Amino acid sequence: MLILGIETSCDETGVALYHPSHPDRGGILADALHSQVAMHADYGGVVPELASRDHIRRVMPLIKQVLTESGKTFSDLEGIAYTAGPGLIGALMVGAGVGRSLAFALDIPAIGVHHMEGHLLAPLLGKLSPETRAAGSETLFPFVALLVSGGHTQLVEVTAVGAYELLGDTLDDAAGEAFDKAAKMLGLGYPGGPAIAALAEQGDPERFRFPRPMTDRPGLDFSFSGLKTYTRNAIAEHSPLAGQDKADIARAFEEAVVDTLVIKCRRALSERAVDDLIIAGGVSANRNLRRTLEQKLDARVHYAAPELCTDNGAMIAFAGYQRLQAGQHQPLAIETRARWPLEDLEPIA
Ligand code: KG4
Ligand code: ZN
Repeated sequence: MLILGIETSCDETGVALYHPSHPDRGGILADALHSQVAMHADYGGVVPELASRDHIRRVMPLIKQVLTESGKTFSDLEGIAYTAGPGLIGALMVGAGVGRSLAFALDIPAIGVHHMEGHLLAPLLGKLSPETRAAGSETLFPFVALLVSGGHTQLVEVTAVGAYELLGDTLDDAAGEAFDKAAKMLGLGYPGGPAIAALAEQGDPERFRFPRPMTDRPGLDFSFSGLKTYTRNAIAEHSPLAGQDKADIARAFEEAVVDTLVIKCRRALSERAVDDLIIAGGVSANRNLRRTLEQKLDARVHYAAPELCTDNGAMIAFAGYQRLQAGQHQPLAIETRARWPLEDLEPIA
């Protein structure tokens, strides 16, 4: 089943072709991405209306690009998956409108995908066979997933594809959002995660110690807004900042976020008596986070290639495939949801 995946929930137009029996890259025949980061840079954040308009400009050329690159035509497509939420509603409407309409024109099934299910399943690309999909039939299920992106920080127990139980959530900022805000305060560019991570490598881990929010009390929820204030105060106290000061603050900030995530992951794995952890979403590209989880946890840690951690079309094609092959598909209406709890999803049979 050849699936076209379309992602337009925020500021990246991502398109990919996926086939479960394609031998390379976990089944990805081709993928293409256009990032709007430069376009939004002047405004200090994503401008929703500009995002929607840019998706309109980019999506069809990117679809044609992945078809050409893989030597396929529209008539080879057997299903279309598009992000239906959560995200910016206008941006979502572009991908959903194009995906649903194209599927209608080609007379093939379409499926609206939950963006976070896309992230969550991305580390399983190439690893999920029909036999292993059902709960209990393979050692990977159940596992705990840490979803860390620009909009989400969640711990979820996964017993099968689509069977998600929320264990913990952020009470305020998401982890990626905290990285972005700290980077802004340090005068680094957007997105802040990669910028902080690069600078932190030159930082002295001993110079500052930032708090590990909400780790001294039970529970699996997160809060990152206090860390933001702590960062602002550290900057004010040492301003004007020399290059080394910035690196030391970036290091202390990253260590605090990583440590907090590690503590909560350990707690979730132990509470659920589970041995596998999947980390997904943009922040899961962070090398310090990956390394520390692997070193400090008594669990198998799984994650995707860095380009599949941040928003992309391949994860949407792959998640959509799981549902299409189980016979699920979307009626003709073009439906999108700005908010969409992961727990509302139906497990696939
Ligand atoms: O998953 P994603 O691409 O988009 C959303 O669904 O939000 O995540 C983007 C977020 C941004 O906040 C970005 O700063 C963060 O992921 N990020 C990172 C790294 N790469 C991206 N954070 C920390 N370290 C990284 N290497
Ligand atoms: Zn995302």
